[in-house]
Amino acid sequence: VMFDDVAAENPYLEIGGYFKPNTKPRGKLAVIIPFRNRKFHLRVLLHYLHPVLQSQRFEYCIYVINQSNKGVFNKGALMNVGYLEAMKRHNYSCYVFHDVDLLPEEHRCLYTCSDDVRHISTGISKFKYKLVGGVTVGGVSAFTTAQLQRVNGWSNRYVGWGGEDDDMAIRIRAHGMRIRRPSPSLCKFTSLPHGPDPGNPLNKKRFNMLRHTTKEMFGDGVNSVEYSVLGETLQATFTNITVELGK
Ligand code: UDP
Ligand code: BGC
Repeated sequence: VMFDDVAAENPYLEIGGYFKPNTKPRGKLAVIIPFRNRKFHLRVLLHYLHPVLQSQRFEYCIYVINQSNKGVFNKGALMNVGYLEAMKRHNYSCYVFHDVDLLPEEHRCLYTCSDDVRHISTGISKFKYKLVGGVTVGGVSAFTTAQLQRVNGWSNRYVGWGGEDDDMAIRIRAHGMRIRRPSPSLCKFTSLPHGPDPGNPLNKKRFNMLRHTTKEMFGDGVNSVEYSVLGETLQATFTNITVELGK
C-alpha cells in the first residue's frame, strides 16, 4: 500500500480515500489536488488533512489528479478534470481545490462551501500568515457545483506557473459574484518548501492573457478541457487519476 502509515492512522477510510461519518454529515466534499511529482508533499498533506476533514464531520473523498509526463504542467486544466471526474463518481455538493504543499494547521478552519465562493487559504506561513495577492483564489478554495458551472470552471490556457487563480478571480467578479475569505488568523496553513519544478516554468504571458479572460471564459473552462484518463487507482488514502492533457 502507498503511504501505509497514513492509512494506519485513518482506520475509518474506505478504499480510494473515501470517508462517511457515522452521524449526519455537514456536507459532501470532493477534495481535488492538482499533482505531478510531489509524492513527499502528498504524504504529509494526507497525514494532516484526513483528521481535519473527519473532525469537521464531512463526507468526502480525496482525488489526486496526476498529470502525465507529457506537456507543461497545467493546474487549471487539472482542476477542471478533477471536477468532471469526481462528479461522475458521486453527487458532491462542494468542490475543494487544494495545493499539495499547503498543510492545514487549524481544525477550526472549515472546509465548507458557502453562498459565495470561498478562498480558504488566507493565512500561509511563507507569507507570515498575512493575506497576500488578496484578490485571487489560489491555494485552497471551495466552490459549489452551481458556482463552478456559472464561471465555467478554471481556464485551461495558463500552462506553467501562475495566472489561473487570477483568471478565476476575474471570472467571479465578471459574473457579479463575490469571494468570501475567512480570517488569516483562523485559516492558517504551513507551506512546504520546494524547488522550481522543471515541468512548470513561469508563465510570463499571464498578465497579458488576463486581459482576455472576460472574452474567452465562456468557451474556455470545464466545457472545453481536453484530456484522456490514462488510469485510475484506488489507494487506501486517496483516489489517483492519471491524465494526459490535450487532444
Ligand atoms: N504542482 C505539482 N507539481 C508541479 C507543479 C505544481 O503537483 O510540478 C501542484 C501542487 O499541487 C502545487 C500547486 O500545483 O501545490 C501549485 O504549484 P506550486 O506549489 O509550485 O506553486 P506555489 O504555490 O508554491 O507558488
Ligand atoms: C500569479 C498568481 C499568484 C500570485 C500570488 C501572481 O503573479 O499570477 O498565480 O497566486 O502572483 O503569488
